[in-house]
Amino acid sequence: MSLSERGPIGVFDSGYGGLTILRDFRRLLPEYDYIYLGDNARAPYGNRSFELVYEFTAQAVNHLFEQGCPLVILACNTASAKALRTIQVQDLPEIDPTRRVLGVIRPTIERLPELTTTGHIGVLATPGTVLSRSYTLETEKLFPEMKVTEKACPMWVPLVENGEADMPGADYFVRKYIDAILLEDPEIDTLILGCTHYPMLYPKIRAYVPERISVVPQGNLVAESLKDYLKRHPEMDSRLTRNGTTIYETTEATFKFDTISSLFLQSPVSSVQIPL
Ligand code: DGL
Repeated sequence: MSLSERGPIGVFDSGYGGLTILRDFRRLLPEYDYIYLGDNARAPYGNRSFELVYEFTAQAVNHLFEQGCPLVILACNTASAKALRTIQVQDLPEIDPTRRVLGVIRPTIERLPELTTTGHIGVLATPGTVLSRSYTLETEKLFPEMKVTEKACPMWVPLVENGEADMPGADYFVRKYIDAILLEDPEIDTLILGCTHYPMLYPKIRAYVPERISVVPQGNLVAESLKDYLKRHPEMDSRLTRNGTTIYETTEATFKFDTISSLFLQSPVSSVQIPL
């Protein structure tokens, strides 16, 4: 790709979760064009091995590059934890050193000082993200005085992917992981929703978390970080097209994607099915 070639921002997630990030991108940066890609046919990624998450994510990034995206955001903590670094360090220099792939974990951690007063942070995430210890390790680098407790919530993504987030049956599993993490560190004052699916469970999560603790979805933090990144990188900003459009792509059947995505975005979605 030559530097003069322009294109949309690619937004990738294993399934629907990245829509909670896209929603905030479009609110804060409505003038840009976006291609959203959900690998719904192979979601969830949360229990998959490092190798598979990397392989699937690399395929998705390549696909978005082929569609002309100069910039791709991995709007998925699991992919950010397990694949981002390899893609940035090993793949990008070979594929095209002028393109960029960014994740969601670092932009979230950078904002911790303004979120916590006790310095005790809880991170609710998929088993894959928790196993990688990315939140703990990145926080140690930036804010060594803080204490991070991570808790895997393996049932939460399936609840969301199956449209059960608002159902009474979800309460048991929502409460189970919240009680467990607060038992592990009662001084937590900030709970990060470290999986982009989890904002869909926000009303239930909020109901089971004591009021003194803030529950923090990532969408706004990541969107503000992207805005700041584009301001600091005019060479990338000038390569992004601005017609305010969004294309939705899924590896699953479109009728299912359209139905569930419309719930996430509260507006109609019309997707195209693509092979990866
Ligand atoms: N939404 C993704 C995340 O932020 C992953 C969900 C999954 O596929 O397990 O981790």
